[in-house]
Amino acid sequence: MQTPTTARRYERHPSMARQRWAWAAVIFVSLWPAWSAALTLPTPEAMRTTMPVPAAVVRVVEPHLSDRQRRTLVDYRGWPAEGVLDALFGNDWRAAGVDVEFRALDGYVSRIPAERFGRYRGWLVYERADGAAFSVDNLQQNQKNVALGPWYLVWDNQRNPELLPEGGTYWPYQVTQVLLSRARTDALLPPGIAPGHDEAAALAQKYCLSCHRVNGYGGDKAPADLARSAKALTPADFQRWVLQPSQVKPGTTMPGLPDAMPESERRSIAQRLLDYLVAVPVKP
Ligand code: HEC
Repeated sequence: MQTPTTARRYERHPSMARQRWAWAAVIFVSLWPAWSAALTLPTPEAMRTTMPVPAAVVRVVEPHLSDRQRRTLVDYRGWPAEGVLDALFGNDWRAAGVDVEFRALDGYVSRIPAERFGRYRGWLVYERADGAAFSVDNLQQNQKNVALGPWYLVWDNQRNPELLPEGGTYWPYQVTQVLLSRARTDALLPPGIAPGHDEAAALAQKYCLSCHRVNGYGGDKAPADLARSAKALTPADFQRWVLQPSQVKPGTTMPGLPDAMPESERRSIAQRLLDYLVAVPVKP
């Protein structure tokens, strides 16, 4: 799996420089736990008066209703995310190394490297353009009729089909708040971890830490420390959770790695995640 955005971001702080950098990160992070205050997104009506352009329709392959065999197209109405972020944060969100955090009602936190919004076209949408209910069946999470509002972040994966293998990663729904933050390298790559895990840490952030946590950093949907869980499981059980969670626990809401991704890539990512989670020291 290529993660050009996140991988590149971690490369700027190579492990050679980590000792020095870790102190800077600790000081920086403790001074600036979040870089901006969490902003509650306005209602669509209020957004209409704020935004310089009217809402528009975007047609996407809806990842929650699609897999490698089947693609379901859905038309949503909303605004390009870049424009919304400009309206909320001015230019601040475009600074190097910034993550834009989208917080959902249920504790899901999607932290998206800001530079991704320059590379791909994201949209904050608030309704379906065909008048159907603004909800979706989340097949991967065994959930039906999941409400998507008030806001749902979608990506123009017709214009950028290379996004298709990511599935629903970085498609947070029920979004109520947005804020700016910095990657928590101190939590994900603490002093004492062997070098070489930067990319796997970025993969964990991208695919797992919207729900799980490592050393206190991550989402609130599955608050037990993921590194602790991984160390306690056999490698085979860990792989089953990540690749076929419904086989371990039928009906579970834990989604496996995206189905739209080639199987070889899913396996390779699962292995790299396991190596990283076993290696990362867990704070007591
Ligand atoms: C959408 C939220 C979500 C995402 C994303 C997610 N998980 Fe989970 N995960 C859960 C939930 C919820 C549970 C508890 C499931 C249950 O008990 O039914 C869980 C359970 C687990 C367990 C079993 C925990 C234990 O203590 O035995 C493992 C291991 C796990 N997840 C690993 C991962 C990995 C690795 C990733 C990233 C590839 C990931 N999860 C991504 C929500 C998520």
